[in-house]
Amino acid sequence: MNEDLHGRTVLLAGATGGVGEGTTRSLLAHGARVVAIGRDEERLAGLADRLGDTGTGELVLHRTDVTAADSSAVTRELRAAFGTVDGAVISIGTPGGRTRGSVLDITDAHWAEMVEGNQTAGFRALRALVPLVAPDGAVVSLLGASAEIPFPGNPLMGATNAALRSLVQTLAVQLSGSGPRVYGLVLGVVRTRARQSVGIDDPRWLTGEQVGDAVGELLTAGAPGSDEPLHHLIDPVTGLTVRSSRS
Ligand SMILES: NC(=O)c1ccc[n+]([C@@H]2O[C@H](COP(=O)([O-])OP(=O)(O)OC[C@H]3O[C@@H](n4cnc5c(N)ncnc54)[C@H](OP(=O)(O)O)[C@@H]3O)[C@@H](O)[C@H]2O)c1
Repeated sequence: MNEDLHGRTVLLAGATGGVGEGTTRSLLAHGARVVAIGRDEERLAGLADRLGDTGTGELVLHRTDVTAADSSAVTRELRAAFGTVDGAVISIGTPGGRTRGSVLDITDAHWAEMVEGNQTAGFRALRALVPLVAPDGAVVSLLGASAEIPFPGNPLMGATNAALRSLVQTLAVQLSGSGPRVYGLVLGVVRTRARQSVGIDDPRWLTGEQVGDAVGELLTAGAPGSDEPLHHLIDPVTGLTVRSSRS
């Protein structure tokens, strides 16, 4: 990382999740004050237990639902608690129930569940958090590579991620020049605690900490092409790559 995160406050929504936990650990290791946001006190307390010693970083737990319909109320609550911050990371989403058959077999109920849990949730998180970030700060929204490929195992995960990717790229253009910088970070498969606990793991996949390192690069504008909104971290060997919106 070109510049460390000492003295910077970063809001991290979805910190209790597999990717959120690794990202929190990495940002703390780089000295950030991380406000770990989740909807459940017990899950937040469990996160704090697992993280243990935060080194030079500072961990603050905050229970709220950044996806609540009244985004202005969420913004007011977080502003009262933390003021203007240096960065925000959005690491939320749900794989939903199992998709059976083809796209043509998707029920309205499954569609509604996935749009609400991913697309609407990601949109509301942006609407609540972006206004809290300083004009020279940055927002990173984590996305899945399923947004960019055929994804027969979970078509609506792919479709809702693609919709979010579009929103994030458009917002980045709309805020360009007035700030904050807005990034979509498209991820490959991550070695989460949940996967590992059921024996699903592969050393060729990303770790949550590697995701956090890449997020830190974007937050500090240390990544190559940090004026571009869309970045990819698909595997640990290739590392963080940027896709030019002008090509
Ligand atoms: N895991 C991977 O391999 C992978 C790969 C590519 C991209 N990603 C992306 O990384 C992000 C996080 O994935 P993950 O694997 O860490 O997921 P996860 O373990 O399921 O964690 C997601 C967290 O988000 C919160 N959350 C879920 N649905 C929400 C909703 N509707 N409203 C508000 N909060 C909600 C939950 O926290 P609380 O309930 O405690 O609030 C949960 O702990 C997602 O955007 C995903 O698309 C993950």
